[in-house]
Amino acid sequence: MMIGCIGCGNMGGALLEGLLHSAPQGSRFCAYTRTPSRLAHLEAQGVLRLKSAREVAEQADLLLLCVKPAQVSAVLKDIAGVLTAEKVLLSVAAGVSLASLARDSGAVCPLVRCMPDTPALVGKGVFAFAFSENLSREQAEEILTLFRALGLCFELAESQFAAFSALIGAGPAYIFAMMQALVQAGVTLGFSHDSSRKMVQALVEGCAVMAEKTPVHLARLKDNVCSPHGLTIEGVNVLDRRGFSGIVLDAVLAANARGLAMEKES
Ligand SMILES: NC(=O)c1ccc[n+]([C@@H]2O[C@H](COP(=O)([O-])OP(=O)(O)OC[C@H]3O[C@@H](n4cnc5c(N)ncnc54)[C@H](OP(=O)(O)O)[C@@H]3O)[C@@H](O)[C@H]2O)c1
Repeated sequence: MMIGCIGCGNMGGALLEGLLHSAPQGSRFCAYTRTPSRLAHLEAQGVLRLKSAREVAEQADLLLLCVKPAQVSAVLKDIAGVLTAEKVLLSVAAGVSLASLARDSGAVCPLVRCMPDTPALVGKGVFAFAFSENLSREQAEEILTLFRALGLCFELAESQFAAFSALIGAGPAYIFAMMQALVQAGVTLGFSHDSSRKMVQALVEGCAVMAEKTPVHLARLKDNVCSPHGLTIEGVNVLDRRGFSGIVLDAVLAANARGLAMEKES
């Protein structure tokens, strides 16, 4: 299979690099991106650099479209003439529906809508997938298998994409904001920024692994840390009094509302 990528910025570059290491033996790769220097490290790993999006669309069996949402329509109109029913087009563009991908690509080939999150950049992604009706179950499984090497994959109805984007796509911003606040608190208590950051990173990683390995409610894991008359319960009480859960809930609902509006605009 030839895997082609159009738009090799943060997400396209990371997906291509991840797939380079995980795709079945014999897979080949080609790419086009507007600024050729961004492809240098991928070229060094065997990716064939082509001169246009059209050339990539001609050569690829699986075509990853990783340009910004505002650029999707123009790129699709440019490559529509060389798409065939044997190819599969996968777009990662936020808020761009299967219907608008079909409209701008001429509805020739099967389509995949994919929403990754930024930890996909380090092989720890969470992905949502929706498939067009003309994509076979076998093709869908092939794509899910390919991406499972890069993270956790969920097949969702398109109507759930705004919710997924608000919770998981935007999720790294919430988690990094919490991490940044904890690092700042550590510095306030006298740790160097570097030490505080390393401690917080290990804390978050440890909690994620513990949550995965301990099959009890998260509230129980939280309560287990709160000894009577101890110091943790004092901290947790402040979070509760200031409405921490409500703030997180409102953040996700606000992102979801914006996501739904973006879907309508596309
Ligand atoms: N990053 C995320 O967190 C994230 C999460 C979920 C989904 N996504 C989706 O991923 C897509 C890409 O986002 P990104 O963060 O990777 O953006 P990015 O870093 O700006 O990458 C986009 C790349 O596309 C290139 N490009 C623009 N127009 C092109 C064209 N006509 N033909 C070929 N290449 C072209 C750009 O070239 P230049 O370098 O010359 O500008 C750039 O390298 C977006 O649709 C976004 O919604 C991103």
